[in-house]
Amino acid sequence: MSDQTRYQLNESDLPKFWYNINADSPVAPAPVLHPGTLEPVTPDFLSVLFPMEIIMQEISAERYIQIPDEVREIYKLYRPTPLLRARRLEKALGTPAHIYYKYEGVSPSGSHKPNTAIAQAFYNKAAGTKALTTETGAGQWGSSLAFACDVFDLDLEVYMVKVSYHQKPYRRNLMEVYGSKVYASPTDRTDYGRSVLAEHPDSPGSLGIAISEAVEVAAKSNGTKKYSLGSVLNHVLMHQTVIGEEALKQMDMADEYPDVVIGCAGGGSNFGGIAFPFLRENLKNGKRARLLAVEPTASPSLTKGQYAFDYGDTAKMAPVVKMHTLGHDFVPAGIHAGGLRYHGMAPSVSALVDAGYIDAVAVKQIPTFEAAIQFARTEGIVPAPESAHAICAAVNEALDAKAKGEKRVILFNLSGHGNFDMTAYEAYLGGKLTDYEYPEEAIAESMSKLPKVEMPA
Ligand SMILES: Cc1ncc(COP(=O)(O)O)c(C=O)c1O
Repeated sequence: MSDQTRYQLNESDLPKFWYNINADSPVAPAPVLHPGTLEPVTPDFLSVLFPMEIIMQEISAERYIQIPDEVREIYKLYRPTPLLRARRLEKALGTPAHIYYKYEGVSPSGSHKPNTAIAQAFYNKAAGTKALTTETGAGQWGSSLAFACDVFDLDLEVYMVKVSYHQKPYRRNLMEVYGSKVYASPTDRTDYGRSVLAEHPDSPGSLGIAISEAVEVAAKSNGTKKYSLGSVLNHVLMHQTVIGEEALKQMDMADEYPDVVIGCAGGGSNFGGIAFPFLRENLKNGKRARLLAVEPTASPSLTKGQYAFDYGDTAKMAPVVKMHTLGHDFVPAGIHAGGLRYHGMAPSVSALVDAGYIDAVAVKQIPTFEAAIQFARTEGIVPAPESAHAICAAVNEALDAKAKGEKRVILFNLSGHGNFDMTAYEAYLGGKLTDYEYPEEAIAESMSKLPKVEMPA
């Protein structure tokens, strides 16, 4: 076997199609419901927030959807992204396992998020939209959409979760460099933000609250602004499948096939992006890769949340979907993986976890940072705290393989770099981080507030 470390595709290998899991998923997605009536939504309701092309993708059952040339042109600024074999990490762990990682941190904003931001900005521009609104947790999504809006000449307002706004000031600057406006959510710019501040003046914010603000601004704009979401929805996960499609080709170049494919999961988009093409191979071509979604113990929607209908946001303005949820009023602890602090999870990932096609595990904050530091000191890249959850699980897999004397092939998605996350690393290195497990009682209490949906499950 060669001692190659980096597997790099040519520009001509850039995927021409996104893969839609709904065409092959053995578990049909539950209908998306209107937050007021709890009846299935109509395209009319969704069209207040999204352009029609995106709505059609959201409900599409087509297996492959062509990537527009204009989107592929922008993808070419950073795609295909490299696949690397983590040889130095393997050596440090003394494991017989082979560890590969797909590196999405080479994008302009430093994560996988531009894969969908570029597509969403393109479809909005094509539909005549002039401005977008969105929320952001860690700032990775906001800065990716800011970059995409700059490319397609759209205005952008970003509602950034307040705790991250302060933890990650440079992400805010990055969004401003791309020409966007950024507000610390909850703000006094929306009815919902003002109501939260009246009750909790020191609210650290949450993704659920920030989504409510961004949705409210778009919904009340008389059609002048649309809303864009960076995770959870089908079209977002579909846009991310360029990751897994490229990784399949690159594993082929390495002449190996993964026994396990790992991604961190906040709303499920980078995980779905790498895992769904491998799931297709499991379902259609007799492959048997285990698919593992990794979440923080502080925000354990897949491992402790209920699989039920819930609102996508705190103010109950966003559509209701069936997903693993901690409850729409979930306000997470200020852990340093801002992008994983969402109460819900993509309906497609949730359904596949529920039916046993995908495994899920929760890891604690301190071992996650230990793995991140070990990765930085062996492979050189400082990972985003979100991505470090996938590294932590990959290290655990590699150590398990070592204990069992197994040669295991591990593939994980390194969804972003952590160059803007030095406050988190400073806190870790200064011994200031703690482990946190979201309490069962809080989950139980939130479950009593789920919408009561009368529908066969
Ligand atoms: C680097 C990185 N990885 C992962 C995530 C989690 O999002 P998702 O589960 O949609 O991939 C985020 C979210 O902000 C992120 O910034």
